[in-house]
Amino acid sequence: MRKNIVAGNWKMNTDRHSGATLIVNLLNGLPQEPKCTVIVAPPFPLLGTAADLLSRDGRVLLGTQDCHHEASGAFTGEVAAPMLASYSVSHVILGHSERRQFFNEDDGLIRRKMEAAMRCGMSVIWCCGEQLADRDAGHHMDVVERQLSVAFAGFNTVHLDRLTVAYEPVWAIGTGRTATPEQAQEMHAFIRQWLRSNLAPAAADTSILYGGSVKASNARELFAQPDIDGGLIGGASLKADEFLAICSGF
Ligand code: PGA
Repeated sequence: MRKNIVAGNWKMNTDRHSGATLIVNLLNGLPQEPKCTVIVAPPFPLLGTAADLLSRDGRVLLGTQDCHHEASGAFTGEVAAPMLASYSVSHVILGHSERRQFFNEDDGLIRRKMEAAMRCGMSVIWCCGEQLADRDAGHHMDVVERQLSVAFAGFNTVHLDRLTVAYEPVWAIGTGRTATPEQAQEMHAFIRQWLRSNLAPAAADTSILYGGSVKASNARELFAQPDIDGGLIGGASLKADEFLAICSGF
């Protein structure tokens, strides 16, 4: 079902104390009936604390920034999807461009991680997006189409309701340079059409989030676009006031 969603990707930021404080501040400032589904994805060490604080309240869902594609085993340092499910994680961010760039994750691996998370009943925020050179060369649609084709070839559409897509042009992440609402809308419409034609008519109802330097000052204009259902927020999710203002931008 198509929903408005704002998800905070904390990346490798906060510690035990500042992370817990951020969650408490978010819960204190959030309206009783938020205008959208709100998700926070803290780093793994905060999972237990975040799960306790959030489950007591119920207005904010818990996300993570990755999971391993195997359910258990000898994979030193990794975190498996069933572990996350046992902490009531609802959304796993996968395919983020930083994972692709710094950890060599390719579309095939991301696909396996997506299946692992969905098998455990969790939803996936699957990220895609082009580099600046691709956009400058006019190839941005081709790049995203290629990412979609690998991720969703033979995708089992019974899991469609567990899918959220995030379009994050790499040149807009953490750079302060946001895609214009028109650039974002164009790509979102393209992704929605691709999902409709290649997965199932019902896939047109997938929530598609924009990510890349979203702030309180530009969220409203982006979220007003017909195919933008919310945002995946990095830097601005680390400040409670800013994140809450983004959540009210519908
Ligand atoms: P940013 O990051 O909001 O700091 O640009 C977005 C993201 O990487 O998800």
